[in-house]
Amino acid sequence: MAKSQDELKEMVAAKALEFIPAKGIVGVGSGSTVVKFTQAIAAQGIKIEGAVSSSNKTTELLESIGVKVLDPNSCEPYEVYIDGADEVNDDFEMIKGGGACLTREKILASMAKTFVCIVDKSKLVTTLGKFPLPVEVIPMAREQVARRLRELGGNPVLREGCITDNGCEILDVHGLTITDAKSLEDKINGIPGVVTVGLFAHRGADVVLYATDDGVQQKNKA
Ligand code: A5P
Repeated sequence: MAKSQDELKEMVAAKALEFIPAKGIVGVGSGSTVVKFTQAIAAQGIKIEGAVSSSNKTTELLESIGVKVLDPNSCEPYEVYIDGADEVNDDFEMIKGGGACLTREKILASMAKTFVCIVDKSKLVTTLGKFPLPVEVIPMAREQVARRLRELGGNPVLREGCITDNGCEILDVHGLTITDAKSLEDKINGIPGVVTVGLFAHRGADVVLYATDDGVQQKNKA
């Protein structure tokens, strides 16, 4: 029977519990699938030594279920980072940042040995770009960054009313067909005033868990 997106998110979140290391800290992302993941941790009474968190909202959630949240500055690189995505392709490259937490997500992903991406099947794509690509920008650079993004073929739109946890703004770039994600990631990261682009290509996922009507499937990067 066809499952709702909410049910699919619950399924994949429950499966992700298996990836929590028995010892050490775990990196936790942001978004509605991660909310389900934190709920599953609480429901199953899973003990976690500590966590690093990619957003103020996730920090609040983790603390509300008794998980100690640590400052990444006080942590060594760790085993597993668990997070959702807005799109993921066959090369394990992703678009992230629909929840405006892309910068902290990228930092935590860079510290983890294994990135476990948890999605429902609707997030699997052949080509990245249908989901508008989030770019976090320093507010005074917004218009100049937007000009450069237009030169790259995109149509940047300011996300109204959104200030990130880092005090910055988000441009959502529409109209991109991303055939070389690593190169585009480099180009956008190189624009003065860009804090982070929500392309996770250089540091993509290592494991993709995706929920379908028939259960949760797993793909491992070769
Ligand atoms: C948050 O900034 C994002 O990167 C999320 O990981 C992404 O938007 C997926 O969110 P959902 O789990 O809500 O679909």
